[in-house]
Amino acid sequence: MHRHLDSALVGLKCTACGADFSADELINVCLNCGKVLFATYDLERVTSTLHKEDLPLRERTLWRYWELLPVATSAVSLGEGMTPIFRAERLGAQLGCPRLFIKEEGINPTGTFKSRGLSVAVSRAKELGAEILAMPSAGNAGAALAAYGAKAGLETWVFMPAGAPESNKVQCQAHGANLVLVEGLIDAAGRESQKEGEKRGWFDVSTLKEPYRVEGKKTMGFEIAEQLSWRLPEVIIYPTGGGTGLIGMWKGFDELERLGWIGTERPRMIAVQSTACAPIVRAFEEGATRAEPWAAAHTIAPGLNVPAPFADYLILRVIRESGGVAVSVSDQEILSSIRDLARDEGIFACPEGAATLAGLRTLLAARIISGSESVLLLNTGSGLIYPGILKGIGTAGDSITEE
Ligand SMILES: Cc1ncc(COP(=O)(O)O)c(C=O)c1O
Ligand SMILES: [Zn+2]
Repeated sequence: MHRHLDSALVGLKCTACGADFSADELINVCLNCGKVLFATYDLERVTSTLHKEDLPLRERTLWRYWELLPVATSAVSLGEGMTPIFRAERLGAQLGCPRLFIKEEGINPTGTFKSRGLSVAVSRAKELGAEILAMPSAGNAGAALAAYGAKAGLETWVFMPAGAPESNKVQCQAHGANLVLVEGLIDAAGRESQKEGEKRGWFDVSTLKEPYRVEGKKTMGFEIAEQLSWRLPEVIIYPTGGGTGLIGMWKGFDELERLGWIGTERPRMIAVQSTACAPIVRAFEEGATRAEPWAAAHTIAPGLNVPAPFADYLILRVIRESGGVAVSVSDQEILSSIRDLARDEGIFACPEGAATLAGLRTLLAARIISGSESVLLLNTGSGLIYPGILKGIGTAGDSITEE
């Protein structure tokens, strides 16, 4: 479908030591220092076929940005991306923050923004010859790997915490993935996945341990710019587990600025975590460049239960470079934010997405965000994946079935 277009991918560069690598073969992390690799593009070449004025004529998926994505031949696509941005008029008025926007990622093909990263990573892994793909997942990424693996005709293995949402397990099984349940959280699942994968020669598609999921996530940044007519919001609030979306959007803004499609003004990037698992918030407040693992993490938002994010140094770098902050919110605040988004905006948010509204409330009260700023919240997935969460809303003092 895209054979007439060329990806402008040129290579891979380590985000820690700067070493360069070829992008022509399967690779995970930097062979020199073990850290995250970023794809680099020849941006001059991009502009020979892609002008921002032409974008409205392109397909309404993230593949409209073909030249800025790493795939050479064909995309494994289920229609991901180009999710709507809504103005949250009622909530904005209540909060005294009238320029409030929500990007609704819940309508992606697998129900969350994880579709983006896995569409791109599976496409690239397939064209580079991978046959079996494996990863640990809190739930949603595994479901997306299962779906895109099915579309690509590749075997997939997903290692999930035993306590992951039932719907994510069902998604994996429906798509024919091999699902392995592991006691503990995503870090335990990660150790298991790595051990098995090394033994059996699977390609590891863990968050930021291969270079291309973040390329899919950066398209959220492209879309925010395009959909808001190339004027970025002043603040973006993102629910941060492994941090791929936050890091990806920032990388996307870098590329847009170098293309001259946006100016030098950037949003402050705000990472929201749970008070029950806040390694990035703690490191940010201590002025550290690395995050110590969080002990005994446990929040109702599975995607935020990431005690030791692999790309901690990149998350902290983005927050600081952008002039943002990191903030944590409680499960109770998450639950009441799910209710508010559902009742006032018609958006049934996942708990991770609802955490961004709770974070906004906290930061407005602390006057770290001013009500005059334009603020965009990422609702990273659909509440439909978490039917049990309704019980939580009941205990928050207000049953959703009563009016
Ligand atoms: C719905 C949802 N939101 C947010 C996150 C956190 O994403 P990231 O790893 O990009 O920080 C996850 C990750 O599992 C998720 O499933
Ligand atoms: Zn390196």
